[in-house]
Amino acid sequence: MSNPFKSVPVRSSEITPKHVYLSRRDFIKAAGVVAGSMALAACAPEAVATEESSAMDSGSTKMDELGTPVNTFEQITNYNNYYEFSTNKEAVAPLSENFTASPWTVEVSGLVNKPKTFGVEDLLSLFPQEERIYRLRCVEAWSMVIPWMGFPLASLLNMVEPTSDAQYLRFETVYRPEEMKGQGSPFYPWPYQEGLRVDEAMNDLAILATGLYGEMMPNQNGAPIRLVVPWKYGFKSIKSIVKIELTDKRPDTLWSTVAPNEYGFYANVNPEVDHPRWSQSSERRIGDLSRRPTLMFNGYGEQVASLYEGMDLSLHY
Ligand code: MTE
Repeated sequence: MSNPFKSVPVRSSEITPKHVYLSRRDFIKAAGVVAGSMALAACAPEAVATEESSAMDSGSTKMDELGTPVNTFEQITNYNNYYEFSTNKEAVAPLSENFTASPWTVEVSGLVNKPKTFGVEDLLSLFPQEERIYRLRCVEAWSMVIPWMGFPLASLLNMVEPTSDAQYLRFETVYRPEEMKGQGSPFYPWPYQEGLRVDEAMNDLAILATGLYGEMMPNQNGAPIRLVVPWKYGFKSIKSIVKIELTDKRPDTLWSTVAPNEYGFYANVNPEVDHPRWSQSSERRIGDLSRRPTLMFNGYGEQVASLYEGMDLSLHY
């Protein structure tokens, strides 16, 4: 099959009004975020979100730990890959405007001692919401820096207690073709599926994100809850999750099913392994004019390289 990913230049001048259904203050209240009440995550150098520290209020002066500024809310919410709505990145925001992201439940099942279906509001109140500023590197060689809100996937796993047989997680996006017209396309095996090894999922960098810029997750970014695994290409970060299944078999993933020669299970960002049809050695940061070098594991090697010790990374694309 021909390459399903297309590159469309972003026009940051085209700003679609954001579709936010709770104010930031309401979201922070619902999420139980209290200024100064949370411990910083061990590996993440980012600041805890507080009402005072939000980039929304300070004119986007937040940076990642490498000193690069976060992208604007307008950039992050108007240049999206979400094939359930459109393959045109600039069309996703308007086409997802009326998506129903509430009520919503996430079923956690399979090889766990305590399977449970969580309402999103349960997840918001059970787990303190933290801000994590992460680079997102798309396999198409563009990138952004995004101030996510969310909680470690490990916290959820610890609650459901994976059994000793559990080796992988399988994630599933909602299947709702009446609301997501892209799911009418016969070229993709809907619903979107992704997977992680359990030890990858337990890494502190892996989060379930419930918002960005201190607001509830915009529809186009995967409302109400999506995965974010910043050391992997963006397609691993599956949106609008309804199911997480623990299993002893490596799950199929949408992209490795559609184009197995181009997209693997691991999909760790690796500047030394080119995509069959383009180089992965550099990337275009949305908003920048010149390209920048792509970093091994997207710059998170210190936290995650040990997960892949002994693996030939050129073979595990
Ligand atoms: N999840 C679903 N369900 N459907 C998708 O099409 N696209 C992926 C990922 N998650 C996608 C998805 C890709 S290719 C990327 S780069 C990121 O979402 C983009 O996330 P963003 O739009 O929040 O930047």
